[in-house]
Amino acid sequence: MSTTKPASPTVRVADPEHWRAGPPLELFRELRDGDPVHWSDGMSSFPDEPGFWSITTQEHIRQVSKDWQTFSSERGGMVGMPWAAIEVQNGMFIGMDPPKHDRLKALFQRGFTPRRTAEHEPAIREITRGVLDRLEGRETFDVVTDVAQPVVSRVIGSFMGIDPADDAMWAQLMAEIVGGDDAEMNPDGPDSVVERVIPEIVSRCQVLIDARRATPTDDLMSVLVHADIDGERLSDWEIVMGFILLVTAGNDSTKATFCSGIKALMEHPDQRRKLLDDPSLIPSAVEECLRMFPAFAHFRRTATKDTEIGGRAIAEGDKIMMWYPSSGRDEAVYEDPDRFDVERNPEHQAFGAGGRHYCLGTALARLELRVMFEETLARFPHLRPAGDARYATAIFVNQLTTLPVAVGD
Ligand code: HEM
Repeated sequence: MSTTKPASPTVRVADPEHWRAGPPLELFRELRDGDPVHWSDGMSSFPDEPGFWSITTQEHIRQVSKDWQTFSSERGGMVGMPWAAIEVQNGMFIGMDPPKHDRLKALFQRGFTPRRTAEHEPAIREITRGVLDRLEGRETFDVVTDVAQPVVSRVIGSFMGIDPADDAMWAQLMAEIVGGDDAEMNPDGPDSVVERVIPEIVSRCQVLIDARRATPTDDLMSVLVHADIDGERLSDWEIVMGFILLVTAGNDSTKATFCSGIKALMEHPDQRRKLLDDPSLIPSAVEECLRMFPAFAHFRRTATKDTEIGGRAIAEGDKIMMWYPSSGRDEAVYEDPDRFDVERNPEHQAFGAGGRHYCLGTALARLELRVMFEETLARFPHLRPAGDARYATAIFVNQLTTLPVAVGD
Protein backbone atom coordinates (compact mmCIF):
# COMPACT_ATOMS: atom_id res chain seq x y z
CA MET A 1 0.00 0.00 0.00
CA SER A 2 1.27 3.46 -0.88
CA THR A 3 1.47 5.39 2.37
CA THR A 4 2.21 8.91 1.27
CA LYS A 5 0.37 11.30 -0.95
CA PRO A 6 2.23 11.71 -4.23
CA ALA A 7 4.22 14.96 -4.13
CA SER A 8 4.08 15.69 -7.84
CA PRO A 9 3.03 16.18 -10.52
CA THR A 10 -0.21 17.65 -9.32
CA VAL A 11 -3.24 17.73 -11.54
CA ARG A 12 -5.87 19.84 -9.88
CA VAL A 13 -8.95 18.05 -11.06
CA ALA A 14 -11.35 20.66 -9.65
CA ASP A 15 -9.73 23.75 -11.12
CA PRO A 16 -12.18 25.64 -13.36
CA GLU A 17 -9.84 25.49 -16.37
CA HIS A 18 -10.78 21.80 -16.75
CA TRP A 19 -14.53 22.40 -16.60
CA ARG A 20 -15.31 25.10 -19.17
CA ALA A 21 -16.69 22.67 -21.76
CA GLY A 22 -18.29 20.17 -19.40
CA PRO A 23 -16.52 17.57 -17.26
CA PRO A 24 -12.88 16.77 -18.18
CA LEU A 25 -13.56 13.34 -19.67
CA GLU A 26 -10.11 12.93 -21.18
CA LEU A 27 -8.44 13.76 -17.87
CA PHE A 28 -10.70 11.25 -16.11
CA ARG A 29 -9.80 8.60 -18.71
CA GLU A 30 -6.11 9.16 -18.01
CA LEU A 31 -6.71 8.93 -14.27
CA ARG A 32 -8.74 5.71 -14.53
CA ASP A 33 -5.91 4.30 -16.60
CA GLY A 34 -2.91 5.41 -14.56
CA ASP A 35 -3.94 6.86 -11.20
CA PRO A 36 -7.56 5.93 -10.41
CA VAL A 37 -7.31 7.13 -6.80
CA HIS A 38 -5.68 10.49 -7.42
CA TRP A 39 -4.47 13.14 -4.98
CA SER A 40 -4.92 16.76 -6.06
CA ASP A 41 -2.64 19.01 -4.10
CA GLY A 42 -4.62 22.07 -3.14
CA MET A 43 -7.71 23.40 -4.79
CA SER A 44 -8.05 26.98 -5.89
CA SER A 45 -11.52 27.35 -4.44
CA PHE A 46 -10.59 25.67 -1.13
CA PRO A 47 -7.57 27.64 0.08
CA ASP A 48 -7.87 26.20 3.60
CA GLU A 49 -7.80 22.55 2.58
CA PRO A 50 -4.58 20.71 1.68
CA GLY A 51 -6.20 18.90 -1.25
CA PHE A 52 -8.51 16.01 -1.98
CA TRP A 53 -8.69 12.51 -3.40
CA SER A 54 -10.46 11.90 -6.69
CA ILE A 55 -11.97 8.49 -7.16
CA THR A 56 -12.84 7.67 -10.72
CA THR A 57 -13.93 4.03 -11.06
CA GLN A 58 -17.21 2.30 -10.28
CA GLU A 59 -15.54 -0.15 -7.94
CA HIS A 60 -14.08 2.55 -5.70
CA ILE A 61 -17.17 4.76 -5.77
CA ARG A 62 -19.21 1.76 -4.64
CA GLN A 63 -16.74 1.03 -1.83
CA VAL A 64 -16.94 4.59 -0.53
CA SER A 65 -20.70 5.06 -0.99
CA LYS A 66 -21.55 1.90 0.90
CA ASP A 67 -19.37 2.55 3.94
CA TRP A 68 -20.77 5.57 5.75
CA GLN A 69 -18.94 4.70 8.95
CA THR A 70 -15.57 5.23 7.25
CA PHE A 71 -16.66 7.85 4.71
CA SER A 72 -18.83 10.50 6.31
CA SER A 73 -21.21 12.87 4.54
CA GLU A 74 -21.54 14.92 7.70
CA ARG A 75 -18.04 15.55 8.92
CA GLY A 76 -16.74 17.67 6.04
CA GLY A 77 -19.93 18.21 4.05
CA MET A 78 -21.11 16.23 1.05
CA VAL A 79 -20.10 18.63 -1.72
CA GLY A 80 -16.84 20.32 -2.58
CA MET A 81 -18.26 23.83 -2.74
CA PRO A 82 -16.73 26.20 -0.20
CA TRP A 83 -19.62 28.66 -0.39
CA ALA A 84 -22.11 25.95 0.61
CA ALA A 85 -21.40 26.55 4.30
CA ILE A 86 -21.08 23.45 6.44
CA GLU A 87 -24.08 24.49 8.61
CA VAL A 88 -26.19 24.52 5.46
CA GLN A 89 -24.95 21.13 4.27
CA ASN A 90 -25.38 19.57 7.71
CA GLY A 91 -28.94 20.88 7.93
CA MET A 92 -29.99 18.64 5.03
CA PHE A 93 -30.25 14.88 5.46
CA ILE A 94 -27.98 14.43 2.42
CA GLY A 95 -25.28 16.02 4.62
CA MET A 96 -25.98 13.93 7.73
CA ASP A 97 -24.82 10.50 8.85
CA PRO A 98 -27.03 7.87 10.46
CA PRO A 99 -28.96 7.70 12.71
CA LYS A 100 -30.33 11.21 12.12
CA HIS A 101 -30.08 10.81 8.35
CA ASP A 102 -32.14 7.62 8.36
CA ARG A 103 -34.95 9.09 10.47
CA LEU A 104 -35.31 12.12 8.21
CA LYS A 105 -35.04 10.18 4.97
CA ALA A 106 -37.73 7.75 6.10
CA LEU A 107 -40.07 10.70 6.45
CA PHE A 108 -39.81 11.45 2.74
CA GLN A 109 -39.51 7.96 1.35
CA ARG A 110 -43.24 7.34 1.61
CA GLY A 111 -43.90 10.23 -0.78
CA PHE A 112 -41.32 9.10 -3.33
CA THR A 113 -42.00 5.37 -3.77
CA PRO A 114 -42.24 4.22 -7.41
CA ARG A 115 -45.99 3.66 -6.98
CA ARG A 116 -46.72 7.05 -5.44
CA THR A 117 -44.50 8.72 -8.02
CA ALA A 118 -46.21 6.95 -10.93
CA GLU A 119 -49.49 8.58 -9.86
CA HIS A 120 -48.00 11.89 -10.97
CA GLU A 121 -47.48 10.85 -14.59
CA PRO A 122 -50.66 12.50 -15.97
CA ALA A 123 -49.84 15.75 -14.17
CA ILE A 124 -46.21 15.73 -15.37
CA ARG A 125 -47.36 15.07 -18.94
CA GLU A 126 -49.83 17.94 -18.74
CA ILE A 127 -47.15 20.30 -17.40
CA THR A 128 -44.77 19.25 -20.20
CA ARG A 129 -47.41 19.66 -22.91
CA GLY A 130 -48.38 23.07 -21.54
CA VAL A 131 -44.75 24.24 -21.71
CA LEU A 132 -44.33 22.89 -25.26
CA ASP A 133 -47.64 24.53 -26.30
CA ARG A 134 -46.11 27.90 -25.48
CA LEU A 135 -43.50 27.32 -28.23
CA GLU A 136 -46.16 27.00 -30.93
CA GLY A 137 -45.19 29.06 -33.98
CA ARG A 138 -41.60 29.68 -32.86
CA GLU A 139 -38.74 28.83 -35.23
CA THR A 140 -36.08 28.75 -32.53
CA PHE A 141 -35.99 28.31 -28.77
CA ASP A 142 -33.67 27.37 -25.95
CA VAL A 143 -34.10 23.82 -24.63
CA VAL A 144 -32.71 24.78 -21.21
CA THR A 145 -34.72 27.90 -20.44
CA ASP A 146 -37.82 27.40 -22.61
CA VAL A 147 -38.45 23.69 -22.02
CA ALA A 148 -36.51 21.95 -19.26
CA GLN A 149 -36.44 24.68 -16.61
CA PRO A 150 -40.16 25.51 -16.64
CA VAL A 151 -41.14 21.82 -16.63
CA VAL A 152 -38.91 20.69 -13.76
CA SER A 153 -39.64 23.81 -11.69
CA ARG A 154 -43.39 23.24 -11.95
CA VAL A 155 -43.10 19.53 -11.15
CA ILE A 156 -41.08 20.05 -7.95
CA GLY A 157 -43.11 23.19 -7.25
CA SER A 158 -46.32 21.17 -7.27
CA PHE A 159 -44.78 18.61 -4.88
CA MET A 160 -43.71 21.37 -2.50
CA GLY A 161 -46.82 23.54 -2.73
CA ILE A 162 -45.10 26.49 -4.43
CA ASP A 163 -47.25 29.07 -6.22
CA PRO A 164 -46.62 28.63 -10.01
CA ALA A 165 -45.98 32.37 -10.27
CA ASP A 166 -42.94 31.85 -8.00
CA ASP A 167 -41.33 28.94 -9.93
CA ALA A 168 -38.78 31.06 -11.78
CA MET A 169 -37.80 32.97 -8.64
CA TRP A 170 -37.16 29.75 -6.68
CA ALA A 171 -35.29 28.22 -9.63
CA GLN A 172 -32.99 31.25 -9.74
CA LEU A 173 -32.27 31.10 -6.00
CA MET A 174 -31.46 27.37 -6.22
CA ALA A 175 -29.25 27.91 -9.29
CA GLU A 176 -27.27 30.48 -7.31
CA ILE A 177 -26.59 27.89 -4.60
CA VAL A 178 -25.56 24.97 -6.80
CA GLY A 179 -23.77 26.97 -9.46
CA GLY A 180 -21.97 29.31 -7.06
CA ASP A 181 -18.77 29.55 -9.12
CA ASP A 182 -20.46 29.96 -12.50
CA ALA A 183 -20.91 33.61 -13.47
CA GLU A 184 -24.07 32.95 -15.44
CA MET A 185 -25.84 30.82 -12.85
CA ASN A 186 -24.76 33.06 -9.98
CA PRO A 187 -23.91 36.56 -11.29
CA ASP A 188 -23.17 37.96 -7.80
CA GLY A 189 -20.40 35.44 -7.10
CA PRO A 190 -19.94 32.69 -4.50
CA ASP A 191 -19.93 34.98 -1.44
CA SER A 192 -23.48 36.03 -2.18
CA VAL A 193 -24.73 32.51 -1.37
CA VAL A 194 -24.22 32.93 2.37
CA GLU A 195 -24.63 36.72 2.44
CA ARG A 196 -27.83 37.07 0.40
CA VAL A 197 -29.24 33.86 -1.11
CA ILE A 198 -29.61 31.72 2.03
CA PRO A 199 -31.12 34.59 4.11
CA GLU A 200 -33.59 35.32 1.31
CA ILE A 201 -34.61 31.65 1.10
CA VAL A 202 -34.99 31.48 4.88
CA SER A 203 -37.28 34.50 5.01
CA ARG A 204 -39.37 33.38 2.02
CA CYS A 205 -39.67 29.87 3.45
CA GLN A 206 -40.83 31.26 6.79
CA VAL A 207 -43.93 32.56 5.02
CA LEU A 208 -44.66 29.07 3.63
CA ILE A 209 -43.99 27.47 7.03
CA ASP A 210 -46.28 29.86 8.91
CA ALA A 211 -49.08 29.32 6.39
CA ARG A 212 -48.92 25.53 6.79
CA ARG A 213 -48.68 25.72 10.54
CA ALA A 214 -51.94 27.68 10.49
CA THR A 215 -53.58 25.47 7.84
CA PRO A 216 -52.09 22.06 6.95
CA THR A 217 -52.07 21.18 3.24
CA ASP A 218 -51.23 17.96 1.38
CA ASP A 219 -47.87 19.10 -0.03
CA LEU A 220 -44.38 18.10 1.12
CA MET A 221 -43.81 21.43 2.86
CA SER A 222 -46.72 20.59 5.12
CA VAL A 223 -45.22 17.14 5.75
CA LEU A 224 -42.03 18.84 6.93
CA VAL A 225 -43.86 21.36 9.11
CA HIS A 226 -45.97 18.70 10.85
CA ALA A 227 -43.40 15.88 10.91
CA ASP A 228 -43.10 13.98 14.14
CA ILE A 229 -39.76 12.21 14.48
CA ASP A 230 -39.63 10.17 17.66
CA GLY A 231 -41.87 12.72 19.35
CA GLU A 232 -39.89 15.73 18.11
CA ARG A 233 -40.82 18.38 15.57
CA LEU A 234 -38.30 19.69 13.04
CA SER A 235 -36.91 23.13 13.79
CA ASP A 236 -37.67 25.89 11.29
CA TRP A 237 -34.03 25.72 10.15
CA GLU A 238 -34.35 21.98 9.46
CA ILE A 239 -37.58 22.59 7.53
CA VAL A 240 -35.92 25.25 5.39
CA MET A 241 -32.97 22.94 4.74
CA GLY A 242 -35.33 20.09 3.75
CA PHE A 243 -37.04 22.50 1.39
CA ILE A 244 -33.73 23.59 -0.17
CA LEU A 245 -32.62 19.97 -0.62
CA LEU A 246 -35.76 18.97 -2.48
CA VAL A 247 -36.12 22.13 -4.54
CA THR A 248 -32.46 22.14 -5.65
CA ALA A 249 -32.59 18.41 -6.40
CA GLY A 250 -35.82 18.94 -8.33
CA ASN A 251 -34.60 21.96 -10.29
CA ASP A 252 -31.06 21.08 -11.18
CA SER A 253 -31.06 17.36 -11.84
CA THR A 254 -33.42 16.04 -14.52
CA LYS A 255 -33.06 19.33 -16.37
CA ALA A 256 -29.34 18.69 -16.81
CA THR A 257 -29.63 15.13 -18.09
CA PHE A 258 -32.55 15.99 -20.37
CA CYS A 259 -30.76 18.90 -22.08
CA SER A 260 -27.54 16.95 -22.58
CA GLY A 261 -29.64 14.08 -23.92
CA ILE A 262 -31.37 16.32 -26.47
CA LYS A 263 -27.96 17.63 -27.54
CA ALA A 264 -26.66 14.07 -27.99
CA LEU A 265 -29.74 13.10 -30.01
CA MET A 266 -29.16 16.07 -32.35
CA GLU A 267 -25.54 14.97 -32.73
CA HIS A 268 -26.52 11.35 -33.42
CA PRO A 269 -29.47 11.39 -35.82
CA ASP A 270 -29.30 7.60 -36.21
CA GLN A 271 -29.99 7.21 -32.48
CA ARG A 272 -32.79 9.77 -32.61
CA ARG A 273 -34.33 7.89 -35.56
CA LYS A 274 -34.46 4.75 -33.41
CA LEU A 275 -36.45 6.57 -30.72
CA LEU A 276 -38.80 8.17 -33.24
CA ASP A 277 -39.45 4.77 -34.85
CA ASP A 278 -39.81 2.97 -31.54
CA PRO A 279 -40.60 5.20 -28.54
CA SER A 280 -40.57 2.12 -26.28
CA LEU A 281 -36.76 2.52 -26.40
CA ILE A 282 -37.00 5.82 -24.50
CA PRO A 283 -36.57 4.29 -21.00
CA SER A 284 -33.34 2.65 -22.23
CA ALA A 285 -32.22 5.97 -23.73
CA VAL A 286 -32.91 7.64 -20.38
CA GLU A 287 -30.49 5.25 -18.64
CA GLU A 288 -27.89 5.86 -21.34
CA CYS A 289 -28.24 9.62 -20.83
CA LEU A 290 -27.90 9.21 -17.07
CA ARG A 291 -24.73 7.16 -17.59
CA MET A 292 -23.11 9.59 -20.01
CA PHE A 293 -24.50 12.88 -18.66
CA PRO A 294 -25.04 12.49 -14.91
CA ALA A 295 -26.68 15.60 -13.50
CA PHE A 296 -24.19 15.93 -10.66
CA ALA A 297 -20.48 15.69 -11.28
CA HIS A 298 -19.61 14.72 -7.74
CA PHE A 299 -20.57 14.18 -4.16
CA ARG A 300 -17.87 13.92 -1.57
CA ARG A 301 -17.04 12.23 1.73
CA THR A 302 -14.54 12.75 4.57
CA ALA A 303 -12.59 9.81 6.00
CA THR A 304 -13.42 9.22 9.67
CA LYS A 305 -10.29 7.10 10.24
CA ASP A 306 -7.13 6.05 8.47
CA THR A 307 -8.12 3.66 5.72
CA GLU A 308 -7.33 2.54 2.18
CA ILE A 309 -8.85 2.78 -1.30
CA GLY A 310 -7.34 0.89 -4.22
CA GLY A 311 -4.00 0.53 -2.44
CA ARG A 312 -3.72 4.20 -1.54
CA ALA A 313 -3.46 5.18 2.10
CA ILE A 314 -6.23 7.61 3.05
CA ALA A 315 -5.73 9.55 6.26
CA GLU A 316 -8.43 10.45 8.73
CA GLY A 317 -9.89 13.81 7.68
CA ASP A 318 -9.01 13.43 3.99
CA LYS A 319 -11.66 14.53 1.49
CA ILE A 320 -12.76 12.14 -1.24
CA MET A 321 -14.56 13.33 -4.38
CA MET A 322 -16.60 10.69 -6.22
CA TRP A 323 -16.70 11.71 -9.89
CA TYR A 324 -19.78 10.30 -11.59
CA PRO A 325 -18.97 11.50 -15.14
CA SER A 326 -15.88 9.32 -14.83
CA SER A 327 -17.62 6.26 -13.39
CA GLY A 328 -20.15 6.41 -16.24
CA ARG A 329 -17.29 5.96 -18.72
CA ASP A 330 -15.48 3.23 -16.79
CA GLU A 331 -14.07 0.89 -19.44
CA ALA A 332 -13.92 -1.93 -16.89
CA VAL A 333 -17.73 -1.87 -16.95
CA TYR A 334 -18.77 -0.61 -20.40
CA GLU A 335 -17.77 -1.64 -23.87
CA ASP A 336 -16.87 1.43 -25.93
CA PRO A 337 -17.97 3.78 -23.14
CA ASP A 338 -17.94 6.98 -25.24
CA ARG A 339 -20.42 5.57 -27.74
CA PHE A 340 -23.95 6.94 -27.27
CA ASP A 341 -26.25 3.97 -27.73
CA VAL A 342 -29.93 4.40 -26.91
CA GLU A 343 -30.38 0.61 -26.81
CA ARG A 344 -27.67 -0.02 -24.21
CA ASN A 345 -29.98 0.31 -21.17
CA PRO A 346 -26.98 0.40 -18.81
CA GLU A 347 -26.69 0.27 -15.06
CA HIS A 348 -24.80 3.31 -13.79
CA GLN A 349 -23.97 5.37 -10.70
CA ALA A 350 -25.63 8.67 -11.66
CA PHE A 351 -27.96 8.31 -8.65
CA GLY A 352 -25.14 7.24 -6.35
CA ALA A 353 -23.72 3.78 -5.79
CA GLY A 354 -26.08 2.31 -3.23
CA GLY A 355 -25.62 2.92 0.44
CA ARG A 356 -27.46 5.27 2.74
CA HIS A 357 -27.51 8.31 0.43
CA TYR A 358 -28.82 6.62 -2.69
CA CYS A 359 -30.96 9.21 -4.49
CA LEU A 360 -34.45 9.65 -3.12
CA GLY A 361 -35.78 10.95 -6.42
CA THR A 362 -34.84 8.13 -8.83
CA ALA A 363 -38.42 7.20 -9.69
CA LEU A 364 -39.42 10.82 -10.15
CA ALA A 365 -36.32 11.62 -12.21
CA ARG A 366 -36.85 8.61 -14.49
CA LEU A 367 -40.52 9.47 -14.94
CA GLU A 368 -39.82 13.13 -15.70
CA LEU A 369 -37.08 12.24 -18.16
CA ARG A 370 -39.21 9.68 -19.98
CA VAL A 371 -42.20 12.02 -20.28
CA MET A 372 -40.05 14.97 -21.35
CA PHE A 373 -38.30 12.94 -24.06
CA GLU A 374 -41.58 11.39 -25.25
CA GLU A 375 -43.39 14.69 -25.52
CA THR A 376 -40.50 16.72 -26.93
CA LEU A 377 -39.60 14.15 -29.60
CA ALA A 378 -43.25 13.78 -30.62
CA ARG A 379 -43.69 17.55 -30.91
CA PHE A 380 -40.26 18.45 -32.34
CA PRO A 381 -38.81 15.38 -34.09
CA HIS A 382 -36.24 17.32 -36.15
CA LEU A 383 -34.61 19.79 -33.76
CA ARG A 384 -31.18 21.02 -34.83
CA PRO A 385 -28.57 23.25 -33.18
CA ALA A 386 -29.09 26.98 -33.70
CA GLY A 387 -26.17 28.47 -31.80
CA ASP A 388 -23.52 27.57 -29.28
CA ALA A 389 -24.43 25.36 -26.35
CA ARG A 390 -22.75 26.41 -23.12
CA TYR A 391 -21.87 24.38 -20.02
CA ALA A 392 -21.87 25.75 -16.50
CA THR A 393 -18.27 26.08 -15.35
CA ALA A 394 -19.10 24.27 -12.15
CA ILE A 395 -17.63 21.21 -10.49
CA PHE A 396 -20.88 20.18 -8.83
CA VAL A 397 -23.62 20.52 -11.40
CA ASN A 398 -22.97 19.00 -14.81
CA GLN A 399 -25.35 21.02 -16.90
CA LEU A 400 -25.82 23.14 -19.97
CA THR A 401 -26.96 26.69 -19.29
CA THR A 402 -28.06 27.26 -22.87
CA LEU A 403 -28.95 24.99 -25.79
CA PRO A 404 -30.36 27.03 -28.71
CA VAL A 405 -32.24 24.94 -31.26
CA ALA A 406 -34.21 25.44 -34.46
CA VAL A 407 -37.40 23.57 -35.28
CA GLY A 408 -37.55 21.52 -38.49
CA ASP A 409 -35.04 20.03 -40.95
C1 HEM B 1 -31.23 13.09 -13.07
C2 HEM B 1 -31.70 13.25 -11.88
C3 HEM B 1 -30.99 13.02 -10.57
C4 HEM B 1 -29.71 12.61 -10.33
C5 HEM B 1 -28.63 12.27 -11.35
C6 HEM B 1 -29.55 12.55 -8.90
C7 HEM B 1 -28.38 12.15 -8.27
C8 HEM B 1 -28.24 11.96 -6.91
C9 HEM B 1 -27.06 11.43 -6.27
C10 HEM B 1 -25.77 11.04 -6.98
C11 HEM B 1 -27.31 11.36 -4.94
C12 HEM B 1 -26.37 10.76 -3.89
C13 HEM B 1 -25.68 11.79 -3.05
C14 HEM B 1 -24.59 11.18 -2.17
O1 HEM B 1 -24.24 10.01 -2.29
O2 HEM B 1 -24.07 11.92 -1.31
C15 HEM B 1 -28.64 11.87 -4.74
C16 HEM B 1 -29.25 12.01 -3.52
C17 HEM B 1 -30.48 12.61 -3.36
N1 HEM B 1 -31.38 12.98 -4.35
FE1 HEM B 1 -31.10 12.82 -6.33
N2 HEM B 1 -30.71 12.93 -8.30
C18 HEM B 1 -31.62 13.22 -9.29
C19 HEM B 1 -32.93 13.65 -9.12
C20 HEM B 1 -33.50 13.89 -7.91
C21 HEM B 1 -34.84 14.39 -7.73
C22 HEM B 1 -35.82 14.74 -8.84
C23 HEM B 1 -35.04 14.47 -6.38
C24 HEM B 1 -36.24 14.90 -5.61
C25 HEM B 1 -36.96 15.89 -5.78
C26 HEM B 1 -33.82 14.04 -5.73
C27 HEM B 1 -33.61 14.03 -4.37
C28 HEM B 1 -32.48 13.54 -3.75
C29 HEM B 1 -32.30 13.51 -2.32
C30 HEM B 1 -33.29 14.04 -1.30
C31 HEM B 1 -31.06 12.92 -2.07
C32 HEM B 1 -30.40 12.66 -0.71
C33 HEM B 1 -30.60 11.22 -0.33
C34 HEM B 1 -29.89 10.89 0.96
O3 HEM B 1 -29.01 11.63 1.42
O4 HEM B 1 -30.24 9.88 1.54
N3 HEM B 1 -32.92 13.68 -6.69
N4 HEM B 1 -29.19 12.22 -5.95
